[in-house]
Amino acid sequence: MEPLGAVSVFLAICISCLVFLAAWRSTWAKGKLPPGPAPLPILGNALQLKINHLSQTLQELGEKYGPVFTLHFGAERVVVLHGYEAIKEALIDRGEEFVARGRLPLADKFSQGQGILFSNGERWKQLRRFTLTTLRNFGMGKKSIEERIQEEARYLLEKFQDTKGRPFEPTFLLSPASSNIICSIVFGTRYEYNNKKFMTLMNYFDDNFQVFSSPWGQLYNLFPSFMEFIPGPHKRACKNVERVKEFVLEEIKAHESDMDPSAPRDFIDCFRMKMDQEKHNGSSSEFTIDNLVMCAADLFAAGTETTSSTLRYGFLILLKYPAIQEKVQEEIDRVVGQARPPCMVDRGQMPYTDAVIHEIQRFISLIPLSLPHAVLRDTPFRQYIIPKGTTVFPNLSSVLYDCREFPNPREFDPRHFLHEDGRFRKSDFFMPFSAGKRICAGEGLARMELFLFFTTILQSFTLKPLVHPKDIDLTPQFSSIGNMPQSYQLCALPR
Ligand code: HEM
Ligand SMILES: *[C@@H]1O[C@H](CO)[C@@H](O)[C@H](O)[C@H]1NC(C)=O
Ligand SMILES: *[C@@H]1O[C@H](CO)[C@@H](O)[C@H](O)[C@H]1NC(C)=O
Repeated sequence: MEPLGAVSVFLAICISCLVFLAAWRSTWAKGKLPPGPAPLPILGNALQLKINHLSQTLQELGEKYGPVFTLHFGAERVVVLHGYEAIKEALIDRGEEFVARGRLPLADKFSQGQGILFSNGERWKQLRRFTLTTLRNFGMGKKSIEERIQEEARYLLEKFQDTKGRPFEPTFLLSPASSNIICSIVFGTRYEYNNKKFMTLMNYFDDNFQVFSSPWGQLYNLFPSFMEFIPGPHKRACKNVERVKEFVLEEIKAHESDMDPSAPRDFIDCFRMKMDQEKHNGSSSEFTIDNLVMCAADLFAAGTETTSSTLRYGFLILLKYPAIQEKVQEEIDRVVGQARPPCMVDRGQMPYTDAVIHEIQRFISLIPLSLPHAVLRDTPFRQYIIPKGTTVFPNLSSVLYDCREFPNPREFDPRHFLHEDGRFRKSDFFMPFSAGKRICAGEGLARMELFLFFTTILQSFTLKPLVHPKDIDLTPQFSSIGNMPQSYQLCALPR
């Protein structure tokens, strides 16, 4: 290195240490931050966190520091909420203060604060309200959506039939099936599983969920400005999102020519009508093309990988526990029979199946730390003060794995959601969709999809593993933003 270069690097390091120390002292001086390990300059607690064993390390910290503790991700301060009481108190009882979305550098980079997932303030409020209403009007919780899911389940069934009992990898059947439900709501259409363009998008989503959950994604979230200069898969993630946005924009354009304001067909039509209504509001309106593109992309992304990963993980669990699969099939035969497809009304009479699906969601804890929240102002919480803007992670896993509510939480056991007499047992600790004002906007839709897809497949097929069940490994392949199952193959044998 040239002498001048070395000197400036040295200076830069000194300056950042000083800045950091100043910040560090000021937070300590207040003395009211939730406790946590002392951070190092620049790196924060990164070294203590051991990227690959993040959850184990954090568990130890949780035990050491209690239900509310502070960590430093790089230079960013993060508060983690651990356990049902702390999370309920924050997200539900004090929802107004904890409603903001916290920073997630990789996501912020491509959402630019638009859309619904990563937006804040008035924009988020308007777009969330509009989204919930529109999803409801297009039949969320109503019959028409149920029929759409049943129809998609039939297509999925055909694809399973096409495998003729040969081994296959389920990802690229399950993600288009899940995605098509949201596509029919947002774009007014479903796509064939051999549609090249559509399947390319499925690849992007899958890829992004993996990148996000990989050490690369985590490093980016810890050191965003540094990682900008480093090549790696995190660069691919942004390109993937750009492609998804292009796809959405094309669909929006295609809608313009044949839109009929008296009969909106889908989310895009409804949004355009809203844009029209507010076209004189100027910049105060949140109903802009940019927000439409990002909202549609958000729904598309949030509604594809989540449901399909849950299905994929769920099937893997059933491969490991054939006796549980058999009991679900017995219940399907008893309540639904073989003459007609399952429907939502059946669920009330199928406590075992309902419990199995709940247990799958509990056990896999798909999004273990939810998405980051933030506090809107300096927020007194228990004996601490969480400074305005601090990122807050509610540890949903800590609720889903609470051993007071779910004895032996590390075991997959549908009895966690059953009473002694076999009735379904509801639990306030069932929080895979998070809780409070930011709770998943697609919860109703997702639960309908999970029930109908699972029961439709198991009505017609028995799923068989290629290895001995005891060799099936249920630990996630990655675990950070998302708990993804290991990749696997299965055989679907007609019953
Ligand atoms: C098994 C499937 C799913 C799971 C486990 C899940 C879970 C979650 C979680 C944990 C959050 C973060 C909540 C928070 O900020 O505290 C979330 C947000 C969200 N989800 Fe889902 N989700 C699923 C399916 C869906 C589907 C099918 C849709 C499509 C409509 C959807 C749309 C959304 C949206 C729009 C948000 C952002 C809400 C906001 O920021 O206000 N999700 N989801
Ligand atoms: C969240 O809780 C689970 C279960 O107690 C634990 O394994 C994990 O390490 C915790 N994660 C964080 C970030 O505290
Ligand atoms: C936009 O204008 C309409 C009336 O033209 C008004 O009812 C509405 O509240 C305005 N919306 C915003 C976000 O300012």
